[in-house]
Amino acid sequence: NDKIIIAIDGYSSSGKSSMARALASAIGYRYIDSGAMYRAVTLWAMRHGMVNDGTVDVDNLVAALPEIKIDFKPMPDGSQRTILCGEDVEDEIRRLNVSNNVSQVSVIPAVRHSLVAMQQALGKGKGIVMDGRDIGTTVFPDAEMKVFVDASAQTRAQRRFSELVEKGLQVSYEEVLANVVHRDHIDETREESPLRKADDAVSLDNSEMTIEQQNKWLLDLYNRIL
Ligand code: C5P
Repeated sequence: NDKIIIAIDGYSSSGKSSMARALASAIGYRYIDSGAMYRAVTLWAMRHGMVNDGTVDVDNLVAALPEIKIDFKPMPDGSQRTILCGEDVEDEIRRLNVSNNVSQVSVIPAVRHSLVAMQQALGKGKGIVMDGRDIGTTVFPDAEMKVFVDASAQTRAQRRFSELVEKGLQVSYEEVLANVVHRDHIDETREESPLRKADDAVSLDNSEMTIEQQNKWLLDLYNRIL
């Protein structure tokens, strides 16, 4: 029974991470959230004064890339904690101030090359579910299973808003919607590996689906492909 690589790409807050995590735990695969890596680099840059008003000090950040160590700590419940230079930053990288800057950091080609190489190394042994924006197009163009997830911007903003409120963060729905729309625009129009559906990816619009329905849809697809 050969293990495969599963690539789940899509728009921000489309629910792709929850789906990817649920599938990985159902089939005993490792789950990797590639967005967490871009968020960790962004947090590092912010802490080092390399991001001001959405403008990134590209030269200094690129020079510092070898210092920026990112690891994942798997948790018993199948989730993962993102570790930046030895520190657990999982909660901090989800905040809106990081979300507001991450797309500007993600356009930098040297940042992408470095993170893509790490992602490819993580997929060496297969048996992996990875979610992101360019997993099916750039990171694993030969992935045996590819899914592209979308939902309306309003649905996605509502989901992200509820998540943040649940964590006790003070945000408005309008602020979250603006971030989602802005981030999608930068992700879709960037030069280097833009957010795009791979030609051989299966599309899913989950606007009207419950979490249970989308998890079942994904598991059914996996069973069909296998
Ligand atoms: O998935 P998440 O919303 O946490 O990703 C945060 C940001 O990281 C995205 O908006 C995008 O700019 C960037 N990203 C990327 N390529 C990936 C994953 C995330 O450019 N594979």
